Amino acid sequence: MFIRFRLSVSEFTFEVLCRMHDNKIEIGFIGAGAYVSGNHLPNARRNPSLRIRAICDLNTELLERHRAAYAPDYVTTDYREVLRDGRIDCVVLGTQHDMRLPLIQAAAEAGKAIWVEKPMSATNEESRRIVDVVRRNNVLLQVGFNRRFAPGVVDLKRVIQKFPRVQMIYLRAIEERKLWPDWPFTPKHGGTLGSEACHFLDLSVFLTGAEPVEIAARGDAMYAVAISVGFANGALAEIFCGVHGSAGYPKEHIEVFGNECTAILKSFVELNICGVEGEVDRSYPLEFDPMPDAFRELPAFESLYRKNKHWREHIPPEDFANRHYYRSQPQVNKGRYEALDDFARAVREKRNTTGCNEIDGARATAMTIAAAESLRIGRPVPFDLQSILG
Ligand SMILES: NC(=O)c1ccc[n+]([C@@H]2O[C@H](COP(=O)([O-])OP(=O)(O)OC[C@H]3O[C@@H](n4cnc5c(N)ncnc54)[C@H](O)[C@@H]3O)[C@@H](O)[C@H]2O)c1
Repeated sequence: MFIRFRLSVSEFTFEVLCRMHDNKIEIGFIGAGAYVSGNHLPNARRNPSLRIRAICDLNTELLERHRAAYAPDYVTTDYREVLRDGRIDCVVLGTQHDMRLPLIQAAAEAGKAIWVEKPMSATNEESRRIVDVVRRNNVLLQVGFNRRFAPGVVDLKRVIQKFPRVQMIYLRAIEERKLWPDWPFTPKHGGTLGSEACHFLDLSVFLTGAEPVEIAARGDAMYAVAISVGFANGALAEIFCGVHGSAGYPKEHIEVFGNECTAILKSFVELNICGVEGEVDRSYPLEFDPMPDAFRELPAFESLYRKNKHWREHIPPEDFANRHYYRSQPQVNKGRYEALDDFARAVREKRNTTGCNEIDGARATAMTIAAAESLRIGRPVPFDLQSILG
């Protein structure tokens, strides 16, 4: 008994000393499929403040590949093992949309800081329960709305704060259906509205800095939706989201207008600004460039367009087969590294996230639900977050 006690104390001391020595945040992954494999795992590995302690997934073949690539202390198919692990400070929840509340509840009750991929929840009731469990256990929760952290969006936000007023915003994200996996296009995962438009609903709130008061949508939730959002400060956002385009053309575009000022962010690589004193156009490097020597003479967006078009015409068959393009497609900087880094800093500093917390996650879910309701009844739907959260 005495020996066991001494051993466990020395093990504990050793562990504490090790952690003090390299002073890293220990992170565990639960659900490590396509998105986590392509982004969070490589980003965690290159982040000097993070150490990958554990990776959990139901797919054992995938786990073995992650074990070889990232050398975590262990891999497991049981998420409870990760949540029981006293060394783990925070978890990334990267499962599909129908596996949220039970994982968030268990992680919050285990005292872990939580990164949850978007959308945070599928219903307003789920959001209320998530807000409640996170607050009761006083844990940090950040939702994977990474675009708020993209260098181009950070600059855009700073520039539009110099507008006398933000009056109109246009956000466009058009994809190509056959390059996507099938699972998001099912009612329980929400289609284009639930899996993509939620990003831009969140971004419209971030950019206007105001609460939405009315939502009107046309189209269909699964494949193509146009959403108008009216804000309490009078601003208007139009969100145009679908999968009927070609992936050869860069996907995303954000335009902001107000009192004779214009700022346009073209696919995160080029920011054009007119009417704002002291602000000049700027460009942002690609996060991954498969053709670094091509089209160098062209402006950033034009160059991205040519590279992207070339990629679309030559997609490697294995990438097309597994619907995973992070190794072949030019990757613009959507703030994925920066968002996870901010989360790690918040965990270390024991502060709230500067990105999207549980209220932002709840609002985005409620906005998608209001848009779906507007599609169903064919009329605008009033929106009041306070009454939704109760
Ligand atoms: N932020 C972004 O821009 C962005 C982009 C793409 C996807 N995503 C989000 O990432 C999430 C995952 O999408 P994906 O395309 O990687 O899906 P995926 O199906 O490729 O990965 C999900 C993984 O979760 C695992 N899983 C399921 N239940 C589990 C459990 N109980 N315990 C452990 N593992 C479990 C599955 O085995 C699978 O490997 C979704 O929420 C999606 O919306 C975010």
